[in-house]
Amino acid sequence: MKKVLVLISALSVAISGVLFVASAQGDMTPEQRAAAAVDQRKSLFKTIRYNLGPIAGMAQGAPWDAEVAERNARRIAVMATMIPEMLAVDTSDFDNIETTALDSIWDNQDDIAAKAQALIDNANAFADVVAETGDFAQSMARFRALGGSCGNCHDTYRVDND
Ligand code: HEC
Repeated sequence: MKKVLVLISALSVAISGVLFVASAQGDMTPEQRAAAAVDQRKSLFKTIRYNLGPIAGMAQGAPWDAEVAERNARRIAVMATMIPEMLAVDTSDFDNIETTALDSIWDNQDDIAAKAQALIDNANAFADVVAETGDFAQSMARFRALGGSCGNCHDTYRVDND
């Protein structure tokens, strides 16, 4: 009996936690929700860059580490599956939210999905070559396509600031 009571009280704590989170989101203004969406997508892209960085470093002369290269490319492939979801929230109504996303994103969701898929495919193709050969030169021949799939989307859908 005591166990059941403990379970019930644990459950009610868990449920009120869920309700709290839900009502916190419900209380957000549309602007706060847009700001949160922008924050979330920037975090995703920053974490993608965090993983690309070491591979780009190797391309530029840092010691070749096949294990890190493959691991980070696989991580990027998984994270890139979130890109379409992150770029689905139209945040263009609010001028004082800092973003480099262009408004054309909101009407081109199919192309966003295709460009995200290209990144997934190129990240996996790179990781496959690394896994199969372990060879720096052969892997780097595949790396250009991976890096290129970032620029390919940025050139179309991001303010040109780099
Ligand atoms: C399908 C489109 C797409 C792909 C693919 C893509 N990006 Fe982006 N990226 C964006 C958009 C849109 C923004 C602007 C986000 C904003 O400012 O709200 C962005 C922003 C960024 C930012 C800046 C985040 C910030 O804090 O402002 C970084 C860093 C970045 N991307 C890195 C990458 C890297 C590295 C890759 C490839 C491995 C990549 N992106 C692939 C669309 C893409």
